[in-house]
Amino acid sequence: LTLFLSRDAAARSVGADAVAQRLQQLAQQHGTTLDLVRTGSRGMLWLEPLMEIERDGVRHGFGPLGPDDVETLFEQDFADDHPLALGPVEAMSWMQAQTRLLYRRCGVIDPLDLDGFERMGGLAGLRVAIAQSATDTIEAVTASGLRGRGGAGFPAGIKWKTAAEAPADQKYICCNADEGDSGTFADRMLIEGDPGLLIEGMVIAGLAVGATQGFIYLRSEYPDAIATMRAAIAAWEERGWLGDDILGSGKRFHLTLRRGAGSYVCGEESAMLESLEGKRGQVRVKPPIPAISGLFGKPTIVNNVLTLASVPDILAHGAAAYQALGNERSRGTQAFQLAGNVKRGGLFEAPFGLSLRELIETHGGGTLTGRPIRAVQVGGPLGAYLPASMLDLPLEYEAFAAAGAMLGHGGIVVFDDTVDMARQAEFAMEFCAEESCGKCTPCRIGSVRGAETLAKVRRGEDVEANLALVEELCTVLTDGSLCAMGGLTPMPVMSAIRHFREDFKSEPLQVD
Ligand code: NAI
Ligand code: SF4
Repeated sequence: LTLFLSRDAAARSVGADAVAQRLQQLAQQHGTTLDLVRTGSRGMLWLEPLMEIERDGVRHGFGPLGPDDVETLFEQDFADDHPLALGPVEAMSWMQAQTRLLYRRCGVIDPLDLDGFERMGGLAGLRVAIAQSATDTIEAVTASGLRGRGGAGFPAGIKWKTAAEAPADQKYICCNADEGDSGTFADRMLIEGDPGLLIEGMVIAGLAVGATQGFIYLRSEYPDAIATMRAAIAAWEERGWLGDDILGSGKRFHLTLRRGAGSYVCGEESAMLESLEGKRGQVRVKPPIPAISGLFGKPTIVNNVLTLASVPDILAHGAAAYQALGNERSRGTQAFQLAGNVKRGGLFEAPFGLSLRELIETHGGGTLTGRPIRAVQVGGPLGAYLPASMLDLPLEYEAFAAAGAMLGHGGIVVFDDTVDMARQAEFAMEFCAEESCGKCTPCRIGSVRGAETLAKVRRGEDVEANLALVEELCTVLTDGSLCAMGGLTPMPVMSAIRHFREDFKSEPLQVD
């Protein structure tokens, strides 16, 4: 008997290991030999722990499972009429509506099964990169229209070309896996479910820009991802897919994992480089940009997990196929992460351009509480709060920028009509005060004053005058901060004030 059960941290947090244990026990009682394959997650987090069985080459799902459900599964021979049966997993509407380029192996194979990885298309992009010139690889990345998935959306090909053309004896590829945005888990899910895809992308980046050493900066809050990635790197080295003679090509690339220590600002590329150098994670003054002078002063590519993981597919299937997906200047697919007060939360990979409404209402099923949607925060804690009247906004970089918002890393947090937006605005300032690296005054001190002033507003003290002060302070933060932490904190604050003015009342509000 072969069964597939997620070992993703999200599944484990809701009891996947207890289900695994019960499955082993019952298999033993039934005298059955159980081959339990622990996969990554399919991204349907509301159905975790999700277990699958393969019949005639088709995976049938059951979930969400508790240990007490396992006995009936055995009794009913894993039949499709079990109360927790979901039918063929890939035929489910959540899966059908997606274009899974990045996550096609996630939830399907054991993340450390290198043969399964290769059987399902792994290494195809790397083989192209080995066979062609570095210039051709960079041209393909440029032609694909791939933009940085960390949040800023800078064209990846231009960044790679800058580093490739910078003369140096040593260059580096640094993967930013310090996924700190609220409501985001796409990097974690990919690393836990298909670490080989990221490694493949990093090796390709190394060959393209002439870097022989890579670092993955992975946050300490992701212990499962760290363990999986460490094991994957070791397995790749043992196979000769990484190291001094990649796939027998004579080309060289080494990869090291470094653990972050929980600072949000270390997701900012220059603070991450400081941390990688063993220093305190503080933001550097730019220029020079890392592509010219980065880690240890050498040309360095800093890309997000999903940017690097997008490259193998571009090389394997051609830039034109990638460029054909998406909308306007947002090409390819984006890993949207649905979180907060939503019925069906999870990871949804689709070409840019679908609307927030389609994602939240059609695929996400609306709010979990069943109450009306009031606000949606897109792009992490520094992203704008959008009102329900803006749900038809297409999910793409330019449309969001024009609406005074940002797509960021694709995190979407839903709130129902019980949310207090004045509290959310205050929280944004508190978050900035907590996470500020302290290097520049508007962010270090302005955020503290901002939180204090918004607390006064919430207490109903001199509301109009204090809101005017907050607005002025936000202008200073936007114009005077060294990095996005202080520079973007005004986005959630001012969007909350602009779109939900009624929450910033003159009369005293109930304070929690
Ligand atoms: P940025 O726009 O300054 O730079 C984007 C990238 O392009 C950087 O890697 C930069 O070095 C590179 N670059 C800029 N000009 C270049 C050139 N001429 N040649 C080559 N490379 C060039 O944005 P920044 O400050 O790096 O990032 C801000 C974004 O970070 C925000 O928009 C936000 O969405 C995102 N963010 C993401 C978080 C996450 O957890 N993923 C957390 C916080 C913020
Ligand atoms: Fe540090 Fe804040 Fe200044 Fe960024 S804006 S450099 S986090 S003090």
